[in-house]
Amino acid sequence: MSPPMETLDYPGEAPDGLHVAIIMDGNGRWAKARGLPRSLGHRAGVAALRRTVEGARELGVNRLTVFGFSTENWRRPREEVSELLRLLRAYFHSDLGRLEREGVRVRIVGRRTGLEPDILEMIRDAEARTASNSRFHLQVAFNYGGRADIVDAARAFAAAVERGEANAYDLDEAAFASRLSTAGSPPPDLIIRTGFERRLSNFLLWDCAYAELVFQDIYWPDYGPEQLRAAIAEYLTRERRFGGVQPHDIRAAV
Ligand code: IPE
Ligand code: IPE
Ligand code: MG
Repeated sequence: MSPPMETLDYPGEAPDGLHVAIIMDGNGRWAKARGLPRSLGHRAGVAALRRTVEGARELGVNRLTVFGFSTENWRRPREEVSELLRLLRAYFHSDLGRLEREGVRVRIVGRRTGLEPDILEMIRDAEARTASNSRFHLQVAFNYGGRADIVDAARAFAAAVERGEANAYDLDEAAFASRLSTAGSPPPDLIIRTGFERRLSNFLLWDCAYAELVFQDIYWPDYGPEQLRAAIAEYLTRERRFGGVQPHDIRAAV
């Protein structure tokens, strides 16, 4: 029987490496546990990000997507939002040159509308400067929300229909995915969340369809290559079927 859906294309992990996505959670609680202001937790979180990016390639990862700031994080107190934006600017300012030299392609995923002009400029600059790199892909989800991304993609398709460039039946999974801010990236193989919560908090809602989920009970500022290694070891015990069956199951069934 032929498949009822137009797309059944879930190729699994890329031969050149894993795509790992991380919900870096727990900065505030890490700081609170030490009697420190939340801002110091976020600073320690940037150091953890640096360590993790550095260790990722050796662990067979070739693409890392990190959740830096969600569309809902604007609800936080103004001072905290300012501190997070300051840290984002500082991270690109201090690390972009090195990332560029090391062959890292940087991409920022998320909603661009409404962002301050200097942030937009910084994003464009980071992407342009690293555009020809392909050794490692670092995707920073900033002003990212899975629902917002889906709505924006739907809007972009509707606009194409309005312009007479497409009709409703041109929309399939690939056409839809090509309008997400994550377009062009393979979906994550593994999504990690630190910080003791078991939820996605609006991360990669479309892209996570067949990702393996690993929750690690550690605050993000304590994270590094060792913890990433443990998460990947757990991932490697999983059997990914993408809705199908494994070859040995087929043998057992006949
Ligand atoms: C994650 O840590 C960082 C961001 C959301 C930017 P949190 O700030 O959410 O820390 P907790 O969850 O309050 O401990
Ligand atoms: C998710 O963490 C967002 C980031 C890590 C950037 P949150 O701390 O915002 O999520 P909730 O509020 O616990 O769901
Ligand atoms: Mg949190």
